[in-house]
Parts: sequence; C-alpha cells; structure tokens
Amino acid sequence: MALWAIVPAAGAGERFGGSRPKQYLSLAGRPMLAHVLDLFLDSPLVEGVAVALAEGDEHWPKLRPAQPAKPLVTVVGGATRAASVLAALAAVSGRIGAEDWVLVHDAARPCLDAEDLRRLVAELADDPVGGILAAPVVDTLKRADDDGRIAATVERKGLWRALTPQMFRYGLLRSALASALADGASVTDEAAAVERAGFAPRLVAARAANPKVTRAEDLRVAELILAARR
Ligand code: CTP
Ligand code: MG
Repeated sequence: MALWAIVPAAGAGERFGGSRPKQYLSLAGRPMLAHVLDLFLDSPLVEGVAVALAEGDEHWPKLRPAQPAKPLVTVVGGATRAASVLAALAAVSGRIGAEDWVLVHDAARPCLDAEDLRRLVAELADDPVGGILAAPVVDTLKRADDDGRIAATVERKGLWRALTPQMFRYGLLRSALASALADGASVTDEAAAVERAGFAPRLVAARAANPKVTRAEDLRVAELILAARR
C-alpha cells in the first residue's frame, strides 16, 4: 500500500507573531519546514510528499529542494488547516488510490521522531480506519469560569492530546474532510473529520516529544529537543 505525506504549511502563524511565518524560521540552523520535509523525503516508508503553501508564498522558492529524492507536489492551501489539507489531497488525486495511506503532519511540528513515525505506520498498517500519534494527558485538568477561576476539576483518565502525524486512507480522509467543510463544521485535525464520519481512529502513544511550535517561546524548546537528540 502506498503512503504519501501531506504537510499543511499555509498558515500565517498569528499566535507566534513576527513578519516571517513560523514554518520558515530557522531552527538548529535550518528552516522549520526543511526539517519536516526531510523527515518524509528521507523516510523509506514514504512514496511522495504534498505541501500546502500560502498564496504568494515568497519563502518557498528558496527552500524548495532542487532535486527531491521522490515526488514533491506543491499546492496553494486554504483559509483553514482543513481546507489546506483538502487542497493537498486533491492535488495528488491522480497519484494515489482510495485505499492508499496518507500521513498528515503539521509544518509546525519539527521534532517528530523518526522512530515514532515508523511505529505509527507499523501499528496502523492493518487498521481498517487509521489513527493518530497522541500523548496521554499528565497534568490535572481544570475548567475555568468566566472570571478566570476554577469552576471544576476535569477527570484526566482517558484523555489524550492529539498530535500529528495522523494517518488515514486517502479516500476516507478526503471525503470526511470535504463533508466537514461543506457542513461548515470546525475540524481542527484530520481525526475530528473522520470521527464525524462515524469512525473511531486509533490512538498510538508517542514516545518522543513532538510539540507544535505555536508561540514565540516554543521555538527555543523545539531547538533544545532537536539538540538533545544529536
Ligand atoms: N495551516 C495551513 N493552512 C491554514 C492554517 C494552518 O496549512 N489555513 C498549517 C500551518 O502552517 C501549520 C499547521 O497547519 O503547519 C498547524 O497550524 P497552526 O499551528 O495553527 O499554525 P498557524 O495557523 O499558522 O498559526 P496560528 O493559528 O497561530 O495563526
Ligand atoms: Mg492555526
């Protein structure tokens, strides 16, 4: 079964701030997006990579690998992450079958560990639905009231943080995302769209740290994680 990587990289990074979108900021000497692309371009598991970019992205031409080791498709993304992923899925429609797998991974998660990637793919290879890399919640959870005071303590048992990659069959994911967008449903990850379609994706526990660089202070943390692995 073929496996393609889909990388949504069309966001503006509003919470991060600054003039350059965060996926192009330098991390351990190279742009964040370059780290992410290399993970998939170097993986023997992955047949091709599709990247969704912002309209008029002026940073991509400098980063684009001149001679990628495998097919690298680019497409203009959409107004939301889900729309960007859907655009990337549409862009590879001629190259991938409905039952083939796609791995969707945020451009803003440069610390994905190659061994976690390998394990995710191995554990889901025979799964009828697919699943996601995830981490069990370890902190005690509080629900806030409107005044910033604690209204309740939320039971932590059974709660997980959804990470990426998220791995699904091409046909299922494309139709689930298309129907979520058509219905105006807000889905912030692929699993949410697949859940809406009536399926229960598998949770595969991540072993290595794989944070999403969201705020400016996260960049240093990501850099430390990468440095610690070398
Ligand atoms: N993304 C995308 N298309 C969008 C919005 C987001 O491809 N319309 C991508 C981002 O580039 C990022 C991933 O989805 O790789 C996760 O999104 P997030 O961390 O929220 O990034 P941004 O949307 O860029 O940041 P913010 O929400 O702070 O503006
Ligand atoms: Mg966002």
